[in-house]
Order: sequence, then structure tokens, then C-alpha cells
Amino acid sequence: MSQLSTQPYKGTRDFYPVDMRVRNWMFSRVRRTLKAYGYEEYDGPMLEPFELYAAKTSEEIVNEQLYWLVDRGERKMAVRPEMTPTLARMVAQKQNELPRPIRWFSIPNLWRYERPQRGRLREHWQLNVDVFGGDALAEDLEICQVIVALMEGFGAVSGFEVRLNHRGVTDYVFRELLKLTDAQIPVIGRLLDAAAKMGMDAFGENLAKEGMSASQIELLKSLLQKDAADRLRKQLGDNPHFAHLARLLQRLDELGIGPLFRYDPSIMRGFMYYTGMVLEVYDLHPDNNRALFGGGRYDNLVGMFGGKPLPGVGFGMGDVTLRNFLEINKLLPNLSAPNGLYVAHLDEPQLLDAQKIALQLRKLFANASIEVPVLTALSPDKPKKIFATAEKLGARTVVFVGGDDVKAGRYPMKDMVTGEQTTGVPGELAIKYMTVAMSAAAGAIHGP
Ligand code: HAM
Repeated sequence: MSQLSTQPYKGTRDFYPVDMRVRNWMFSRVRRTLKAYGYEEYDGPMLEPFELYAAKTSEEIVNEQLYWLVDRGERKMAVRPEMTPTLARMVAQKQNELPRPIRWFSIPNLWRYERPQRGRLREHWQLNVDVFGGDALAEDLEICQVIVALMEGFGAVSGFEVRLNHRGVTDYVFRELLKLTDAQIPVIGRLLDAAAKMGMDAFGENLAKEGMSASQIELLKSLLQKDAADRLRKQLGDNPHFAHLARLLQRLDELGIGPLFRYDPSIMRGFMYYTGMVLEVYDLHPDNNRALFGGGRYDNLVGMFGGKPLPGVGFGMGDVTLRNFLEINKLLPNLSAPNGLYVAHLDEPQLLDAQKIALQLRKLFANASIEVPVLTALSPDKPKKIFATAEKLGARTVVFVGGDDVKAGRYPMKDMVTGEQTTGVPGELAIKYMTVAMSAAAGAIHGP
């Protein structure tokens, strides 16, 4: 029999503790920001009936990317490729009971059968933030603000840009300015969506292959130009969807965050369910100039379950692109900085004494509401080996428990970062640790 591989399935990741630390850090920041805006966390099942996606999501996802299975009861089930249909189902189920506005977020793992590449995997975690039950303009404005707040929560006050468009405007451009037929719209829409990646020449060639005339190609190419918005403004005149976008941009300006947003008529987004504002957030770093995350407004998803229509708006932010953004913009803190205490005994008879001291220390930290890991040694060792083990385990400080120390009731402690040594009862050691570690943390914040 051939040996089993230790590699995870293609396009998925093992999260060893060093990676889990980063994922937890990213999502703890996210939770903090969202809770400040009054968003509540929800979750749903990994498996949903296949039809939930077949009905409304994107063709690419359903035909090429869905993982599905037939369960033992012959039901065709899909592994969730996105969260929005589950969210719409959950909202529809309790539509009349839920207090409004509904402000919810979730961080599910999602599955798509993709060709793995930078920023794209087969399993990723995706923050979903959505709001229902308010005025469209106020909701769109809030979602835009939340995006900025999330980025600020990571220390990013610039270096990214939110590009806004509106499905109603795109529809007008397609139907009224380009005179496209119903059959042509999704095909040309997909090409426009992929245009930035394929380059202008290939875009033009593909449009010609789809039977677009020279003037249609020129207009479509002009949507990708920097001054597209200004040129379109004249042609769009009093289009109500365009007016909505203009008002939104004006409010964002008034809130002082306008420079982070701009109207971009080439933003498409792949999902069929979007009906209003759509947005895509871009990293502006020259080495990572790509889409980070996106979303939009959907008016008919909740109504699909038979109840009254309840429009919603939101976005999905993936952990893979977010981590790339934070790394390239140097916004990830050092999560492996030495932290916590390692309580080690020198000989076997002091095992229990060391355990009791560790217990006391944990209680003292818990009472002070401070999270400090207190690790114990699982075998006796010589001091040199104890230091080496403590360092490998990422501890900051070592407490030694030897026979004489137990008799005296006072224990030597050494901080491996500052080199400081102390001897004391557990209460004194805890205070000393807190003072040293906290002044180090303060130094990290205010330091050079
Ligand atoms: P989406 O554009 O398909 O939208 O995904 C949102 C984000 O999730 C992407 O911009 C990217 O950050 C991340 N993402 C998606 N697919 C992958 C992948 N294969 N590997 C890594 N990251 C990925 C949606 O899913 C919408 N349901 C979002 C939404 C929520 N719209 C309204 N509310």
C-alpha cells in the first residue's frame, strides 16, 4: 500500500498554531469593530440544498465551482460556496420576528472548486457583513462606513480604495447606450468583469468575437479608462440609480471619508442577485494591486423564500486576500513575541509544588482580567534546559521550583527579554510579571 500523504487537499490549508494565531487575531479585530457598530454574529450549516444556489447565485459558481454530494436519503446537497443565500434563508424564516434593522455578521468557511492561485483557494474563511430593513441610501452609507472602520481597525487608513457602481447604471449602459440584447448582457458583463485582468487588447478581441461593433467596443473600453466616470456623467443625466450613487458619494465626502471611494463603471461583480449598489475594495500597493473583497445590494433574495421582499446590502471579505493585504502593507503585528510564564521544577518531588504555584498564578491573572498563559514543565530539568524549552515554547519568563525554594516558599523568576531576576511568593511574581510585560507592551505601542 502506498504511504498516505501528509499534505492537505489541494487548495486547502492546515492551520498550525502560528497560522491560527494570525487568523484569530484578524477576526478578533473584525469582531471588535463590528460589535462597536452594533452588528451581531450568526452562523448556519455547511450543507444546504443544492437548489439554494442553483436558483440565484452565479453561473460560474453553480456550474464549475460547487462541491456537492448526495446524502444517504438521496438528497442533493451543496457545500456552501458563499454565505448570502444561507443568510437570506435565515432572515426569511424569521422575517416577522426579527427586530429591524437587522445588522448581522458571520465568518464561515466556504468551498469553491477553484484553480488555486495567489488570493484564491478552494477553502477560505469569509467575513460577511449585511444589513436589512432600512433606507437604501442610509444602509449603503453604513456599509461603506463599516468597510472603512474595519480597515482602520487593522491600522489601514489609506492604501486601499473602494470602487462603487450600481447595477441599475450598468443596466442602462448595456441596454440604452450599447443596445445589448438579454442574451448578450451576461456574456458582455462577464467579459467586462474580467477586462482589467485580460488587458485592453484581449478585451477588444473577445468583444469582437462576441459580435460587438467598433463603436460598442469603443464605449466598453472607455468604461475602463480613468475618466470614464466624467464621460458617463453627461450621458447618464438624470438616471435615478446614478443619482443614488452621486448622493452616496456626496454623503461619504461629508463624513470625511470620500477620498477612499470612487465611482467606477467597470465594476460588475459576478453574482446575479445584486440589484443596486455594487462595490469592490482594491489594494493600492504596487506589488498587490488587486481586489481584496466586495459586495453589493440585493433586493429579491429574501423574497425568494415566499415571504415579503426585504432588500439587503453587504459584503464578503476573505481571509486569504486580507492576510496578503496586511502582510504586504506591514500591518500584521508580531504575534510570536515572547509571552507568558513557564513554571519548571528541578526535580521530580517538586512536580506538584510547581503545579500549585502555576494554579495560583493563573487565578491571580484571571482576577486581574489579564490573559497570561502559565505553562508548566511536564518533566524535571536542569536550569539550562529549562531556559531552552521555555524559549522554544514562546514563554517570556521562567519560574524555577527547586527543593530549597519550596522550603523557603519563595521562587526565583527570570524575564528572558529584559534579563531581570526576582525572587518572591506567587503574588509578588504575578505583579512583577504584569509590570514588566505591560511596560514592554506600552513600549511597543509608543516606541520608535
Ligand atoms: P465574492 O466576491 O464571491 O462575494 O467573495 C467575497 C470575497 O471573498 C472575495 O473578494 C475574496 O476576498 C473572498 N473569496 C472569494 N472566493 C475566494 C476563494 N476561492 N479563495 C479565497 N478568497 C475568496 C460573495 O461571496 C458575496 N456572497 C459577498 C456578499 C455578502 N455580498 C453581499 N453580502
